[in-house]
Amino acid sequence: MFEGRTILLGVSGGIAAYKAGELVRRFVRAGGNVQVVMTANARNFITPLTMQTLSGQPVCTDLFDLGLESQIGHIQVARAAHLIVLAPATANLIAKMASGIADDYLTTVLLAATAPIVVCPAMNVRMYENQVTQRNLETLRHMGCHIVEPESGELACKEEGTGRLAELTAIMETACRVLTPPTLKDRRILVSAGPTWEAFDPVRYISNPSTGKMGYALATVAARRSAHVHLVSGPTYLQPPHGVNMHRVVTALQMQECILDLAPGMDAIIMAAAVGDYRPAEALPQKVKKLDGDLSVKLLRNPDILAGLGRSRSEGQVLIGFAAETENLIENAREKLVQKRLDFIVANNLGNPGSGFGCDTNEVKIIRPVGDIEELPRMAKERVAGEILDRIEALLANTRTYGES
Ligand code: C5P
Repeated sequence: MFEGRTILLGVSGGIAAYKAGELVRRFVRAGGNVQVVMTANARNFITPLTMQTLSGQPVCTDLFDLGLESQIGHIQVARAAHLIVLAPATANLIAKMASGIADDYLTTVLLAATAPIVVCPAMNVRMYENQVTQRNLETLRHMGCHIVEPESGELACKEEGTGRLAELTAIMETACRVLTPPTLKDRRILVSAGPTWEAFDPVRYISNPSTGKMGYALATVAARRSAHVHLVSGPTYLQPPHGVNMHRVVTALQMQECILDLAPGMDAIIMAAAVGDYRPAEALPQKVKKLDGDLSVKLLRNPDILAGLGRSRSEGQVLIGFAAETENLIENAREKLVQKRLDFIVANNLGNPGSGFGCDTNEVKIIRPVGDIEELPRMAKERVAGEILDRIEALLANTRTYGES
């Protein structure tokens, strides 16, 4: 995510500074080159040695440190950053930024930097709610800073309220979005993900092994590209991606209702969900007692949501399906592509290792109504999502109706 990027992590003096160490590790793990700059007060909460060890770089703390300043001048530090993340950002740091005060290393660098700035406030609830802090935050927003709102809950000072540093995943996602070109800005994208559960009594259901990872990766990457994303998800254990509108459903019928409701306003719809094809004719109100003999459950056919979308799609709307097959991958996928009137279908062979349900990687083929099949190598699902979205962007760029060449 941050390969070849220099992230300047500014740490100011609040109790949440202890979380900044973990943030450095996450940026480094994601390929980033992290330059830590700490205020004098931050050093009371976490040591420069810790941050230096985790980032693998000398930490900038003292503007008048002759040694460090001769190696890397503070203006050079400001210039080298592709992105600045301030976590935690105290009320004091926010106030200094809002008024242009430059009286230590961090604030001086901030005044000299031109890179985008992500501000992650963390402080006591009253300090956060104080109108001076709110006014200062408004000023920063106006200046183009990206604010990652603090969370509510129990604070270190034992008070309840808003002021806890945002989840590190939210900070990472915001950082990633800020660095990603907004190629899907103002586009509305609907993604479906996960399995459906079709209950036949209160404790039993028919489902499939889908974990939702491919659909969640699509929603995550589309949000990073600044799309308005709606994620309609069957039951999964995955965390909702940051910055998407979540719609949780359980059954195929609920998924259909939710998707048909949202579909008319969408520029693109990606059906990555493994929708159950059948549902029990009756969902019994009480648990079915186990008897000696066998049990038969009558199954009814569920509607094909994607085929319905194909019939009713509006002009210019892009429609993408998935085909997971165990045999005759290409023929089966092609048949679905035509039947469901899709722009393209993403086909994967469930028999391949590292592909399909539950894996973190996927190896897919992209099949269009005309033209060659594209075979993509096995990649992390987020990379596959990026490839799929690149192709959707190309379709959206030359908006045309289905069937036109
Ligand atoms: O026909 P099949 O189920 O293999 O097609 C898979 C594609 O159709 C996927 O994109 C899936 O999300 C979608 N689908 C659907 N409604 C169903 C079954 C599948 O939208 N009832």
